[in-house]
Amino acid sequence: MKDTLRDCIINKKSSYTPIWFMRQAGRYLPEFREIRKDNPDFIKLCLNPELVSDITLQPLKRFDLDAAIIFSDILMVPYGLGQEVVFKKGIGPTLGEINADVIINTEPSDFVKKLSPVYKGIQKVRNKLNNKNLIGFAGAPWTLLLYMLNKESPKNKFDYNKIINDKILTNELLKKVEDMICLHVDKQIEAGADIIQIFDSWAGLLPVKELPNYCYVPNLKVVEHIKSKNIPVICFPKGIGDNYIDFCNTVKPDCISIDYDIDPLWIKEKVNGICVQGGLDPKILLEEKEIIKKNTEKYLNIFKNYPYIFNLGHGVLPEIKPETIEYVIKLVRETK
Ligand code: CP3
Repeated sequence: MKDTLRDCIINKKSSYTPIWFMRQAGRYLPEFREIRKDNPDFIKLCLNPELVSDITLQPLKRFDLDAAIIFSDILMVPYGLGQEVVFKKGIGPTLGEINADVIINTEPSDFVKKLSPVYKGIQKVRNKLNNKNLIGFAGAPWTLLLYMLNKESPKNKFDYNKIINDKILTNELLKKVEDMICLHVDKQIEAGADIIQIFDSWAGLLPVKELPNYCYVPNLKVVEHIKSKNIPVICFPKGIGDNYIDFCNTVKPDCISIDYDIDPLWIKEKVNGICVQGGLDPKILLEEKEIIKKNTEKYLNIFKNYPYIFNLGHGVLPEIKPETIEYVIKLVRETK
């Protein structure tokens, strides 16, 4: 039997380069846009097990991928905690007022009940997936707390001091979010997820001196929890530059997903043999074929004799052509 993505992570096998894409189920696919057109409420769509299963499997029907990632969103956790979450066209996610008491006192059983359609969707996918890996995921505590307090993407507006103005409350919320992330991950594993990725998409907004408090320690807590279930965990602390090494030494994930600002050669030398994932700038996939080939091969050559999962340095952009994804997969398949 051929090696799987899990073998690459757990056994540090480098004989085969598995491939999947962050946001592989998304707006760049016409068949996704077709479903989305009839389902304007994004949260409702994420709570429809039948459609979650169909959308998750869309990219696997088209492409030779090694894993499915469940179609959902990191903001389902704030939603499960009772905060309003709405996705507005052109603005992105918008969250409602935060009631700290309600959030902190949310019963775990109520949280699970609210998100149970997500877990049902995972079960449906698992039953149709045969022997491919199924990646479950969650936002990291800091990134979720940031959305909950900032109420919209920090791309639009962000003031660190305003977010962290009440340290006691912030820490109480952070603890609750950590606990619910662990619960959310447990339920995904029970439903059939066999790998978990933790997205700390906004780790790069933290002042370096706060990385231990808000990034390393909260990720470590979640990672240790996932490891205790014997499930491999991939971490993506986007935007922290040189601190990727501190992150790996402290958090010790089974696999580290790198963004496009990280020098792949540098990370390979510094990271002590743990599996590396991703790196290629998604914007490269908007360029001509020769440029795509050159850049894809750069990553493949650097990680030739190293446990490496091919992926991008962030999600597939809506403007990327499905044929380009097909082309990159072909390049990866032809190399190892
Ligand atoms: O990777 C996958 O295919 C699985 C599905 C997935 C989605 N969101 C679906 C989605 C995953 C893993 C996520 C994670 C997520 N969501 C992150 C972490 C990764 C990252 O991008 O940094 C973050 C920060 C979010 C929050 C979020 N969700 C934003 C900022 C947006 C709007 C911006 C955008 O790209 O549209 C979303 C919406 C969203 N989540 C879409 C999809 C397919 C687009 C929905 C649409 O408008 O059709």
